[in-house]
Amino acid sequence: MDRFEKIFFGISVVMLALFLCALFYASAAMHVHVQSSQEVISVKPGGNLAMAVLTTAPFNNPGVKQIGPHDYEVDIIAQAWTFYPSEIKLPAGANVEFKATSVDVTHGFLIPGTLINMMLIPGQVSITHYRFEHAGTYLLLCHEYCGRGHHTMFAKVEVQ
Ligand code: CUA
Repeated sequence: MDRFEKIFFGISVVMLALFLCALFYASAAMHVHVQSSQEVISVKPGGNLAMAVLTTAPFNNPGVKQIGPHDYEVDIIAQAWTFYPSEIKLPAGANVEFKATSVDVTHGFLIPGTLINMMLIPGQVSITHYRFEHAGTYLLLCHEYCGRGHHTMFAKVEVQ
């Protein structure tokens, strides 16, 4: 083997090892995980997805629900080009389970400054958990291109 071949081979092995370490660090120390929810909203034959979502719990009653002293569930529907509800109010220190789905195309679900980053696939329920430690106004953004109104698709999360 040529000397340079050996050097480049060595560099690629080191890089692979570094990337693997980064992956383990992200999953073990930073709790970054691939979504594992497999909940699917079933559509009756001849029915449409929007109707199915709007008549299936919890999306038949979207919004903020208190489920424990500091625990909340927030159910959100994404539709081009809005989130419903578009204003979410939570107390600081709330442990929140977000459940969201899309009734039309694939949308994004990102709250900058938090670990909340999901993809909303039509008819699938995406779930993530987060604890809001600090009061403030957060933006919930769609970060998956979903058509000409994509850049206007956002909601506000007020933590008081
Ligand atoms: Cu919804 Cu981009």
